[in-house]
Amino acid sequence: MMDHKVCIITGASGGIGSRIVKRFLEEGYHVVMTDLKADLIKEAIEKNRFDRNKVTVCPMDITVEEAVKSGIRDIVSRLGRIDALVNAAGICGSYDRITDYSYENFKKVYEVNVFGTFLMIQNVLPEMVRKQQGSIVNFGSVSGMRGYSFEVGYGSSKWAVIGMSQTVANEYGSKGIRCNSVSPGWVNTCMMEKTIENYRKLGIEDPENWITYGSIRRPARPEEIADAVYFLCSERASYINGANIVVDGGMTIK
Ligand SMILES: NC(=O)c1ccc[n+]([C@@H]2O[C@H](COP(=O)([O-])OP(=O)(O)OC[C@H]3O[C@@H](n4cnc5c(N)ncnc54)[C@H](O)[C@@H]3O)[C@@H](O)[C@H]2O)c1
Repeated sequence: MMDHKVCIITGASGGIGSRIVKRFLEEGYHVVMTDLKADLIKEAIEKNRFDRNKVTVCPMDITVEEAVKSGIRDIVSRLGRIDALVNAAGICGSYDRITDYSYENFKKVYEVNVFGTFLMIQNVLPEMVRKQQGSIVNFGSVSGMRGYSFEVGYGSSKWAVIGMSQTVANEYGSKGIRCNSVSPGWVNTCMMEKTIENYRKLGIEDPENWITYGSIRRPARPEEIADAVYFLCSERASYINGANIVVDGGMTIK
């Protein structure tokens, strides 16, 4: 069995996911980096100069049940433990007014954000239950707390993730497993750029002005989100279960 604690991170080559990998590596974890393609993961390893001996590359599409099942089975047989799971993979889909919002787009957003997160949790839980310990962090968003315009699929998918996190917390708290969600406001990643592009496509002339920040008046740096995620997985958060930690610079108190 692996001596170091093991954390699985989905969306591990993304803007926020790769910062979370860095944070867990700094804390001495062995990190299982999962994302859609091995190339994406390898690129992130090179770009961030992660130590190849301290990461396991595990490409999988989290919306494919068989891929998730066999991926997790493989991780358990190779590493022998799963101490933490961070579900950072997510997509925002395209933006539209509800009357124009395509059903296909809605379903795709749910497949990744909601069903993919569920499949990861469902397949990781048995190993955590076996050890009677573990921590799971899922990604909500302020969009899953307010009904922002043009993102009916994304926003409602994030409400679902926050709710699902509470269900896991309720069912598994007595087995030593905590589950929480982190809800960022704007974070400086390509997802934020994609959202601005989405606003532009909708004919909004000043899309940057649609981005509202809290009183801190800037988007989060991905590492600021990674710090909150790591804290939730650490012993320091041993009594935090079923919480939705908002990391939005004060955006939602406005
Ligand atoms: N960037 C923001 O402003 C912001 C705000 C609030 C919440 N979030 C949430 O934070 C999380 C991380 O976002 P990010 O900004 O790093 O986005 P990102 O686009 O940089 O990264 C997302 C990653 O998820 C991966 N992914 C997508 N579909 C997948 C699938 N089917 N299987 C496996 N991996 C898949 C992508 O390849 C990508 O590497 C997401 O859940 C997002 O909804 C982001």
